[in-house]
Amino acid sequence: MNKNGKERLLKVENISKAFPGVQALQGVDLDVGVGEILALVGENGAGKSTLIQILTGALQADSGQIFLGGQEVRFDHPQEAEEAGLSAVYQELSLVNNLSVAENIFAGRQPTHNYGLMDVGEMNRNAQVWLDRFDATFSPSERVGSLSLGNQQLIEITKAMSRNAKVLILDEPTSSLSLSEAESLFDLLRQLRDQGLGIVFVSHHLEEVFELCDRISVLRDGHYVGTVQTAESDERKIVSMMVGRDLGDLENLHGQEEDLGSMALKVGGFTREGHFQDVGFELRHGEILTFFGLVGAGRTEMARALIGMDKASGGTVEVNGKAARLSHPSDAMRLGMAYLSEDRKREGLYLTKSLKENFLVTNLQKVAPSGWLQWDTLTKLTQTYVDRLNVRTPSLDQKLRNLSGGNQQKVMLGMWLATEPDVLIVDEPTRGIDVGTKQEIHRLLRQLAKEGKAIMVISSDLLETLAISDRVAVMRKGELTGILPIGSVTQEKVMVLAAGVNTKETEQ
Ligand SMILES: Nc1ncnc2c1ncn2[C@@H]1O[C@H](COP(=O)(O)OP(=O)(O)OP(=O)(O)O)[C@@H](O)[C@H]1O
Ligand SMILES: [Mg+2]
Repeated sequence: MNKNGKERLLKVENISKAFPGVQALQGVDLDVGVGEILALVGENGAGKSTLIQILTGALQADSGQIFLGGQEVRFDHPQEAEEAGLSAVYQELSLVNNLSVAENIFAGRQPTHNYGLMDVGEMNRNAQVWLDRFDATFSPSERVGSLSLGNQQLIEITKAMSRNAKVLILDEPTSSLSLSEAESLFDLLRQLRDQGLGIVFVSHHLEEVFELCDRISVLRDGHYVGTVQTAESDERKIVSMMVGRDLGDLENLHGQEEDLGSMALKVGGFTREGHFQDVGFELRHGEILTFFGLVGAGRTEMARALIGMDKASGGTVEVNGKAARLSHPSDAMRLGMAYLSEDRKREGLYLTKSLKENFLVTNLQKVAPSGWLQWDTLTKLTQTYVDRLNVRTPSLDQKLRNLSGGNQQKVMLGMWLATEPDVLIVDEPTRGIDVGTKQEIHRLLRQLAKEGKAIMVISSDLLETLAISDRVAVMRKGELTGILPIGSVTQEKVMVLAAGVNTKETEQ
């Protein structure tokens, strides 16, 4: 028993782990009680995912001890940890898309008939019992690939619970969820906590942490900074524990009237049947226009069609005053347009290549102007953006897959920002990125605008939207519901437009 009177379910003492060139963890302690949700927070590269992988036996610590229910344990493989009651849902979901819900839940443990064949009926009935418990709206026989991310996560949790998890660890579970999906995840986690589960919750969203968690443990640069009771702390205090200094609020970084230059983009009646309809807007050089909306509002689909990745079914696009036909991303590239995808893992990053090699891919023109690769120029360019975005890496030759999730995103952002496109479309620029670097990215975007670039941001983060935009465009269910100059934007106005009113409100 410890001072808050709850049994320690999981206890970690003095864990250290080094990778070549990086001390990922140094003497880290952690503990979770029965019926408790513990937040684990820290900047990108602080060591959160590494710690989780060590707990589940996916990685081995160099030193330190792990106790589960008072017994010292050492897992060689995540399956052993699961059998002992410790399950993790990783940053990247690990479901098999073309198998059914039930097959995923019972992977490797499917019930069989006497003669060895899989008993699908029995398996589906077992799965249904779990799905009912969690009020799931899909059936055990559905293909996982056809379900929303929120539902896929629910399956991961079901999978863990059906293996008798006593401790459940979630690594950034909400980063791709809509607000309502996140809320139902929290309800489920509270329900599991009240049944006695110990939960470790990793997130960069401190509002979530304060809403959900009982205590908060902080890592900084692989070191354990401390643990506080949520009720006795506040966001500012946690941030200063995370970054080692006071950060203050997000700065407002709006542009000036005189920064505005010529028309960069003029879009009218832009439509892709079933995805978005009749979207029209203008974007000037020197301006940041942010598309705000809830997940699923059609913003990414619209951006993909603009850049020629998907086919629009109607509408006109003018780039720099000329009608443009964008039927392939190379058309957009020729016109100086770049799109940074929100799905950075699958699109555009070479994980088995080094930082430098990734920068080379997008900046060939710059670093090999005469056809010969200038290594010095490449190194300088890469270093500049690694510094500006605080990418935590032992060297520029590190392979990308060895960087933490957030640091991979910073590299992706950096290698496209370095190309200095004339029109930049950036989708969720700071998702999964820690609070300290968030401001740095905002400043970079503003600086690019000041230099005359036209910038279109897609963001589901309201505070970010308010901090960086000159105008805010709001979309809902595939429709543009309003465009507001930043001077007249309030949180309430934007939320009403994003969540649903029918009148079109446009003040340019
Ligand atoms: N396989 C590996 N080889 C080399 N270095 C690694 C490896 N895995 C992680 N690291 C390094 O260990 C450190 C901790 O990374 P980790 O993924 O645990 O961070 P994190 O706190 O989860 O960050 P994020 O918030 O970005 O997900 C980072 O500096 C990372 O580059
Ligand atoms: Mg991580």
